Amino acid sequence: MIRLETQRLVIRNWEDRDRDLFFRINSDEEVMRFFPFRRSRAEADAFLDTLRAGNEERGYGFTALEVKESGAAIGFAGLYPSGPIPPRPEGATEIGWRLAPEFQGKGYVTEASEAWLRFGFETLGLDEIVSFAVHDNHASVAVMRRLGMRHEEGCDFDHPKVPDTHPALKRHVFYTLARDDWRKRQAAA
Ligand SMILES: CC(C)(COP(=O)(O)OP(=O)(O)OC[C@H]1O[C@@H](n2cnc3c(N)ncnc32)[C@H](O)[C@@H]1OP(=O)(O)O)[C@@H](O)C(=O)NCCC(=O)NCCS
Repeated sequence: MIRLETQRLVIRNWEDRDRDLFFRINSDEEVMRFFPFRRSRAEADAFLDTLRAGNEERGYGFTALEVKESGAAIGFAGLYPSGPIPPRPEGATEIGWRLAPEFQGKGYVTEASEAWLRFGFETLGLDEIVSFAVHDNHASVAVMRRLGMRHEEGCDFDHPKVPDTHPALKRHVFYTLARDDWRKRQAAA
């Protein structure tokens, strides 16, 4: 499993000491506001194990973010195989994130995601990285914009895995970043 470092963060695979935090970011009403489910402690533990094994095997994935200064795990960010989604039926590599409430508003996710974009384009050689979020999830869309991702007009979609019992969570906006555009942005920075 890859380990990345940024100015303030260590990006690493999940450890057993992260289980309380991981449960919290899978069950907290505010954090999970845009998801149609909440995970129980047992479900969160099982999901951590699944992510940890997948990260180990693949070398990347949704991974823990740890603040260097305190050693505290604060949430996750990472690249993940999306599986088929309406705008990319063949699947894509998505970038995603989730933070415990007390660590939001500090730029941690943007900082970690910049490292993940570099890893995706330079190390994995990806042509494109995508991201999507519930239409009203302005905080998540703001991260996409800060990263230089582009809203792909006409590709917004109703997420097939969101049940019809949650109509407000179905509509997703779709953002993309092509490697060439990422390179131009790096060159200009
Ligand atoms: C989406 C989510 C991860 C965004 O978190 P975030 O903390 O707003 O994002 P960033 O880490 O990029 O931080 C940016 C904010 O930190 C501020 N900030 C403070 N210090 C900063 C610094 N040193 N550097 C950069 N930004 C800083 C920015 O101004 C910005 O605040 P603003 O939005 O009020 O302008 C968070 O809202 C979340 O976990 N939501 C719940 C889960 C979720 O919906 N996930 C996405 C599903 S698609």
